[in-house]
Amino acid sequence: MTNNPVKIVETVLRDGHQSLTATRMRITDMLPVLEQLDDMGYYALEAWGGATFDACLRFLNEDPWERLRTLRKHLQKTPIQMLLRGQNVLGYNHYADDVVREFVHRSVDNGVSIIRIFDALNDTRNLECAMRAAKEAGAHVQGCIVYTISPYHKDSDFVKLGQELVQMGADSICIKDMAGLLRPYAAEKLIRSLKAEINIPIDLHTHFTSGMGDMTYLKAIEAGVDIIDTALSPFAASTSQPCTESIVATLEGSERDTGLQLTKLHDLADYFKTVKTNLAKDFNLNTNIPIDPKVLTFQIPGGMLSNLLNQMKEMGVADKYPQLLEEMPRVRAELGYPPLVTPTSQIVGSMSVLNVALGRYKMIPREVKDLILGKYGRTPAPVDPGIKRLAIGDAKQIDHRPADDIQPQMDKLRQQLANEGYPNASTEDVLSYALFPEVALNFFKNNR
Ligand code: CO
Repeated sequence: MTNNPVKIVETVLRDGHQSLTATRMRITDMLPVLEQLDDMGYYALEAWGGATFDACLRFLNEDPWERLRTLRKHLQKTPIQMLLRGQNVLGYNHYADDVVREFVHRSVDNGVSIIRIFDALNDTRNLECAMRAAKEAGAHVQGCIVYTISPYHKDSDFVKLGQELVQMGADSICIKDMAGLLRPYAAEKLIRSLKAEINIPIDLHTHFTSGMGDMTYLKAIEAGVDIIDTALSPFAASTSQPCTESIVATLEGSERDTGLQLTKLHDLADYFKTVKTNLAKDFNLNTNIPIDPKVLTFQIPGGMLSNLLNQMKEMGVADKYPQLLEEMPRVRAELGYPPLVTPTSQIVGSMSVLNVALGRYKMIPREVKDLILGKYGRTPAPVDPGIKRLAIGDAKQIDHRPADDIQPQMDKLRQQLANEGYPNASTEDVLSYALFPEVALNFFKNNR
């Protein structure tokens, strides 16, 4: 039994506002309290990556790289942590190795110290390039186990994956439970299994979506988890992380006391309460998101359900919504039980909507075919043979690392950007353009 302090990663600057206010927190909302956050004694501040990069360029007219440099200037003591989607970087496609490498190096050079890297399919071949680059750049590399539930995901599989990540050079392991599916006693068992076999720190990242997050953390803490991710109360609970202050209070005086001062956290929480009110007003957001234990049955995060319902409304089939709830788990099984996280969640979601609206597999989008072809990596279980034949006929699934098929892209992107009128674009701008071409060009038009 460990009796070290539990280390806290504060997520208010990334996952907290991504989960509850559509990633709309601006750097100007953060600036007044950055020094206060820095003085708190957090293990790390998750502040970059995930959807923040896209949101900066698309909605906030902010240069994400400039935001990172500003954060670094004001956060002198606490490591800045980012979330990276392996070969997908922060976009939605696979990119060439040179893009991945350059992106990781530029992230570290501009201020990131800890890089959390995941792949939606837990295919470690999609993590190789990013992990190696992060090591070279001198970052702390956190490899992810994306948590999901299926007949093909046992604790022993997650332990094996954890061991593989250690061999690949991970400095710590994160269990990424993006939909709050990890139940308290399952967490206790999983953490114990991992701690028995793995000697680097284990971080648990959950969401409160199903209403179990606090209990899951407590059982994980009792089982010896080293690090947990929490958000200050205004940006905690519902589809975000469990609340920082509540966890700190829970552990106060125990052998795993976090050492964080509750009164100082209250001051920060007061500040962020105002920020949340302002964001709701400025961006017309509904921030009253209830917990949704149904996620345990359907495995679909709440935010995603509302997106799918909108898609169905647009197609005029909103009345078939109850069928969609049945269809999603079925499609997920047929497609080889991918964990539902960007981008596989969108792929399974869209296929399910089409099946319900038009008939099963009457129309099969490109992304579904690519998933079946192996272009996103290995699915945890084989794809249903009947569906495979329908989708790709006799085409052969690839069995090599998907990015091996992608030619280097950086030079070409630089050239394209020059043709668009930006011959002296910085490497950072080329990377923004690589990930979100139209959005980035629009941003450059207004700001360069
Ligand atoms: Co998350």
